[in-house]
Amino acid sequence: MTVTLVTGANKGLGRETDRRLIKEGHTVYIGARSVERGQAAAAELGARFVQLDVTDDASVRAAVRVIEEREGRLDVLVNNAGIWDGIVGADGITSESASAIFDTNVVGVVRVTQAALPLLRKSDNPVVVNVSSSLGSFWAVTDPERTQSHNAFVVYGASKAAVSMLTVQYAKALPEIKINAVAPGFTATDFTAAVGGGRPVEESAEVIVRMATIGKAGPTGTFHEDDHELPW
Ligand SMILES: NC(=O)c1ccc[n+]([C@@H]2O[C@H](COP(=O)([O-])OP(=O)(O)OC[C@H]3O[C@@H](n4cnc5c(N)ncnc54)[C@H](OP(=O)(O)O)[C@@H]3O)[C@@H](O)[C@H]2O)c1
Repeated sequence: MTVTLVTGANKGLGRETDRRLIKEGHTVYIGARSVERGQAAAAELGARFVQLDVTDDASVRAAVRVIEEREGRLDVLVNNAGIWDGIVGADGITSESASAIFDTNVVGVVRVTQAALPLLRKSDNPVVVNVSSSLGSFWAVTDPERTQSHNAFVVYGASKAAVSMLTVQYAKALPEIKINAVAPGFTATDFTAAVGGGRPVEESAEVIVRMATIGKAGPTGTFHEDDHELPW
């Protein structure tokens, strides 16, 4: 049985990823910062729950300890938890909101990955999927053909560029683990509710599931969208 931890997994893309991976036969741990929301999602989906706030070292360490005690290893880590300040353009950006975004979206990935490393190293086929965004792609935000180039998501875009770079650097540092980034695409979740629109989570989670289920010969240090690889 493949043991999988998904962060920020009580709703949105994380929740859909849980549902799909459970269908694939994974034992899925829903990492959620709220005990109530996490337990409710786990009960509905038939998953396990661990309290996990990606901005809190103690909570991350405790969550990994629970998985270690119950499973002895971790096969798949999906770093999905993420926030956006709702700001398009530059007005309204503050150092506090920028720090909060970077602490969750970037340092959160480092915090969880570092804590999970000893358990991932016990797996036969350790896999990490970092949920990035094409808003963090230098190529996509400068290509007039891509919608990502039409608006400025200043801090959020920079945080996802950092997630993509973490992916490349971790893949170099840890050749024994397959570490890839994905761009789920503009999706209708609470995240985007203020702007409206977006495609269904079922479609966008597809690439997360695809990269979470790669075999031993799968790629590492790559960036994927839908069914294809993207330039960085
Ligand atoms: N939606 C899109 O169009 C889109 C596009 C590209 C990339 N993404 C990325 O996809 C990922 C998931 O986004 P989504 O659209 O599914 O958003 P969502 O519906 O708002 O879900 C975000 C999840 O992250 C959790 N979270 C936030 N801060 C956390 C923390 N400190 N510790 C643990 N969990 C935390 C939330 O938990 P609570 O319920 O407690 O708030 C929630 O479960 C994010 O990384 C986002 O940047 C989204």
